[in-house]
Amino acid sequence: MSTACVLVAAGSGTRLAAGSPKAFVVLDGRPLLVHAVERVLRAGVCDQLVLVVPDGRQQESTALVSGLPGAGGVVLRAVAGGVDRRSSVAAGLAALGDDVDVVLVHDAARCLTPPEQVLEVERAVRAGAPAVVPGVAVTDTVRAVAARAGGAAGPVDRASLRLVQTPQGFRRDVLEQAHGAAAEHGLPQALAATDDASLVELLGTPVTVVPGREEAFKVTRPLDLALASAVLAQEGA
Ligand code: CTP
Ligand code: MG
Repeated sequence: MSTACVLVAAGSGTRLAAGSPKAFVVLDGRPLLVHAVERVLRAGVCDQLVLVVPDGRQQESTALVSGLPGAGGVVLRAVAGGVDRRSSVAAGLAALGDDVDVVLVHDAARCLTPPEQVLEVERAVRAGAPAVVPGVAVTDTVRAVAARAGGAAGPVDRASLRLVQTPQGFRRDVLEQAHGAAAEHGLPQALAATDDASLVELLGTPVTVVPGREEAFKVTRPLDLALASAVLAQEGA
């Protein structure tokens, strides 16, 4: 029995528009990928780490992180990602070793995710939950602007909503089955799914939400990089 982290880092970072794939954009002297891996390793729960990166950057990626504290005891692999996030996760799953029974799927773009969050998600899966996501409360007022399935246009009760983060933790068999079904059937709901928990839920598996953390925000647009820089400065203070 062992735990693996599939770190998806193969996106192009179109919205960040920083001139290189997002995981390789430098923050405080180090690529986002390195910040993300450093925090995953500090959690100390992963026996394997699969980096899913743009094709051609596999060697460079393992070299960037292999010297980080805690990397010594971890089986490290890097594979090429796919055209979308889902196929990148699938590429990572295909590279897992036989003994892995719990998988954490994490966005490199959530590069400042506290190690405690990684640990808590892993613990919740080990405690028996088949699928676990961290979620944070919504602080803005939310309004639906077009009629949705099962709902009308108008204000949405934010008390029942959570913004979903990563890492998301799964029993390996559950996650593999969900990705297999999504690839096989190409369901519209699967195509619309923006995370792994949504795929798992399509098969009827319940998803457990644990408290997320503000610092696990996703670097998506230029303003997020400014925020990340401020968070690092605060950590170092
Ligand atoms: N990702 C991936 N493979 C893809 C697309 C996304 O591994 N084909 C990863 C990204 O590297 C990121 C995470 O999924 O760590 C979340 O995706 P997102 O924030 O959308 O990143 P990008 O797709 O790179 O950004 P954008 O959508 O602005 O191009
Ligand atoms: Mg994207």
